[in-house]
Amino acid sequence: MSAKTILCIGAGYVGGPTMAMIARQCPEYRVLIVDIDAARIRAWQSGEPPIYEPGLKELVAASLNRNLFFSTDVAAGIAEADIIFVSVNTPTKTFGQGAGRAADLQYWEKTARQILAHARRDVIVVEKSTLPVRTAEAMDRILRAAPAAVHFEVLSNPEFLAEGTAVRDLEQPDRVLIGGHDSESGRRAVAALVDVYAHWVPRERILTTNVWSAELSKLAANAFLAQRISSINSLSAICEATEANIGEVARAIGMDPRIGPRFLNASVGFGGSCFKKDILNLVYLCDHYGLGEVARYWEQVVLMNEYQEDRFVRNMVAAMFNTVAGKRIAVFGFAFKADTGDVRESPALRVCQALMAEHASVVVTDPQALPNARLELAVYGDRVTFESDPYTAARGAHAIALVTEWNAFRTLDYRRIYAAMEKPAFVFDGRNCLDHAALHALGFNVLPIGQKPLTHR
Ligand SMILES: NC(=O)c1ccc[n+]([C@@H]2O[C@H](COP(=O)([O-])OP(=O)(O)OC[C@H]3O[C@@H](n4cnc5c(N)ncnc54)[C@H](O)[C@@H]3O)[C@@H](O)[C@H]2O)c1
Repeated sequence: MSAKTILCIGAGYVGGPTMAMIARQCPEYRVLIVDIDAARIRAWQSGEPPIYEPGLKELVAASLNRNLFFSTDVAAGIAEADIIFVSVNTPTKTFGQGAGRAADLQYWEKTARQILAHARRDVIVVEKSTLPVRTAEAMDRILRAAPAAVHFEVLSNPEFLAEGTAVRDLEQPDRVLIGGHDSESGRRAVAALVDVYAHWVPRERILTTNVWSAELSKLAANAFLAQRISSINSLSAICEATEANIGEVARAIGMDPRIGPRFLNASVGFGGSCFKKDILNLVYLCDHYGLGEVARYWEQVVLMNEYQEDRFVRNMVAAMFNTVAGKRIAVFGFAFKADTGDVRESPALRVCQALMAEHASVVVTDPQALPNARLELAVYGDRVTFESDPYTAARGAHAIALVTEWNAFRTLDYRRIYAAMEKPAFVFDGRNCLDHAALHALGFNVLPIGQKPLTHR
């Protein structure tokens, strides 16, 4: 096979790591990543990725300027590509029809039109972004306006990586899903993409389906994952009312192989750029097809998550004598999960907003997410402060609200922290990841999720 040029449009959390993995595993391919965000491209080019992800810097360094290149020249990239991955953002629409639920496809459509304008040879266009079912049809229609000399074949190849473990997930994916049309050119395009992944992914893990199944499977996977979190979180509320223990309940049900133990950790709620957006997208699709009952079923997963975030702050206020006004609250973690700097839809945001509505004085600490946290909370001016050192953040605080399960927070010297806090000192463990008995013995009032509070009279 002749060497191919692979282009990826969108150098974000998905495009960057995915292409770096393809470049390393397929040294005979030239892999080019383009983005309209010049600062992002400069960061990738410098070898210091603009996003934090364990192992990513080394992965990029392995191929950078060998067969992995970054550029802002989208048109030139399209002109020389054999395969184009489109990995642009598809956020929830904030305006017009479907606002707050439907996917905002403006970046997606602009990309399709750019491909149409600049492609010079037959191209396989791969949907890497998460998209509503039947988006490939719209893409096909836009691209069919092309001169007959250029053939475009659209495939769906949704990405299942999780932030925080992206490099590992890309190296050893549970499955790679490729959806294509049941036509001769469709089958040929699917085979070409299978060839790329088969460089390192065992064939039996590469699934090929029709385009619509591939598009829907990504929404369905995120809906199921988020549903598990909302399910266990809903039970955590019952535990708090009845003195059942959510850790014990999760263990007992997780040992049933039909249920399994993963994604059963009760918490302050799920975050991230995908779960909420993709479920709302599914809800919108269901309503569009007249499936109101199905839409309401999935919508409840998001509503339960918002309830859990709000409940966390309500519990804090209640435990702290019904007022946090003027009290310093140290928020431990702003990233939506550990091992990422990504704060999109982080529960920490809603928690901080609710605390500030109660006139608390909020100080945020996080090992990787402080720059993004500053941007998210900029509207609050100096009502919120930021500290890279958790000991400084906790000094003089009435409470710690642990929102992100960073390992670094598990191993802090809590005796030292307790000594520097106002008394009575509280820990609200929104991830159930600290040693509650040990903290209680130090003097803290400890309020976990779905477990009996450990308090001092
Ligand atoms: N983040 C995740 O964990 C994850 C996992 C699986 C799937 N996804 C999906 O992948 C897609 C991308 O997500 P992300 O987190 O990488 O988003 P992101 O915002 O980090 O990256 C998208 C990039 O696309 C660029 N872009 C937008 N329009 C462009 C254009 N016309 N030309 C060139 N570049 C353009 C933006 O500047 C941005 O850098 C989304 O659909 C998302 O749902 C994300």
